[in-house]
Amino acid sequence: MSIIRKFKLDYDWKEFVRELDELFPLDIYEEHIEHPNPLGIFYHNISEEHFPQHLREAIERGIGYPIKKKGWMWDWRCQTTELLEHVDTLSNAHMTGISEWDKVVFEDDPSVFGRPPLTVNIAMENDAHLYVMNNETKEYEHCIYGPGDIVIFNNNTQKHGVFVLNEPDRIPRRALNCYLDTDDLFDLDHEFWTHPTEYAPWPVIKTKLATSKHNGKFKTQKVPLQTQYTFEDMAYLDTPEAYPMFEKQADIIIEKQCKGIVDMGCRHGPVLDILHSKGYTDFEYLGVDTSLEPIAIAQEKWKDYKNIEFRAGSWENPVMLHVDWNVDQVIWSGVLLYRPDDHYEFFDKITRQRYNSPNAIIQEPQPTQRHWKVGLELNTIANQMQEYKEAYKKFTEYHLDLEIFAGRRLVVDVTL
Ligand SMILES: C[S@@+](CC[C@H](N)C(=O)[O-])C[C@H]1O[C@@H](n2cnc3c(N)ncnc32)[C@H](O)[C@@H]1O
Repeated sequence: MSIIRKFKLDYDWKEFVRELDELFPLDIYEEHIEHPNPLGIFYHNISEEHFPQHLREAIERGIGYPIKKKGWMWDWRCQTTELLEHVDTLSNAHMTGISEWDKVVFEDDPSVFGRPPLTVNIAMENDAHLYVMNNETKEYEHCIYGPGDIVIFNNNTQKHGVFVLNEPDRIPRRALNCYLDTDDLFDLDHEFWTHPTEYAPWPVIKTKLATSKHNGKFKTQKVPLQTQYTFEDMAYLDTPEAYPMFEKQADIIIEKQCKGIVDMGCRHGPVLDILHSKGYTDFEYLGVDTSLEPIAIAQEKWKDYKNIEFRAGSWENPVMLHVDWNVDQVIWSGVLLYRPDDHYEFFDKITRQRYNSPNAIIQEPQPTQRHWKVGLELNTIANQMQEYKEAYKKFTEYHLDLEIFAGRRLVVDVTL
């Protein structure tokens, strides 16, 4: 069961933000200082006649439920970077009231205006970490959401708080807040809450994470990097949502007409299907990975192709990397993060010194993520690329923002 649900706005989020900014410029917002944002937050209420129908419909298509025709814009302006833990009722939040609409929403006596509706919050700028306490288990559920993501939870029965992520003193947090226009979802037994919080494809994470706070902070731990994955563990990388990450790699290979490809930590070699689907089949390929199951699946799948070989073993073992053809492309997709202390030296040793390859592809998760599990510390070397830029001829970066776990990815086309 989830107590937070996350959805995707059915609209280009940059356009969504642009249109709202045009309608409601930042200087019309009013400051509001009270618990749970004692440092002050800026609001602008959107009345029924000013809420553009097509934007409302984009939210409704995203969540699959109707929303009320009023809402409010929320700009934290780097002034407030944390919303303290609280429950939204008229008596303990919004004491001074920011508008007649808020008084309606947070009215304590449901017999007057009905039950307070569930909140629908659409992120517009920066990522935020939302935590909500489950009233039964007293455990917190977490969600990170960023521009274009929508979250729904019951903010008037469940304690919750928010931290702004990613340089909160420099990048403001903004959101559009609305309310569900249905009474169906108050009951946590409703089928709606049986779905996982996240809508994006997710890997199997076996680590049990701490869910309680210590000194106001949630504990974190590194994502364990394994050398033995099952096929299923990483199946989120084989979804249509992840496809652009491997398509970009295939396009680089085709554009450079590479003929000898070594894929380090290849899993089942997802780039091969894409190369073939694009009619690019004339090359030698070696994929090496320690994970036995994906390698066995790939060996079976490609057994009739004499130019394609998969080996189960470590990139530490020179025998594993031996080929008797010229290598002109080495793929390092999601693997250099295994070597946080010497990734550049290792990359150079294999790509340049061993293979004398004129090309390489690097794929790495970016340091800030929108689809992420709170409690996990990201392993990434995407922000340590200076040595590569200085050492090699060309370093062409592509920044992807995919709807998968850790979907903000850096793909680099390196020319040595
Ligand atoms: C994050 S996955 C990335 C897989 C694939 N390159 C992709 O982009 O989908 C990292 C892979 O590296 C493999 N790996 C880890 N250590 C390895 C080693 N020493 N030698 C070869 N493969 C290794 C893991 O088994 C895993 O399949």
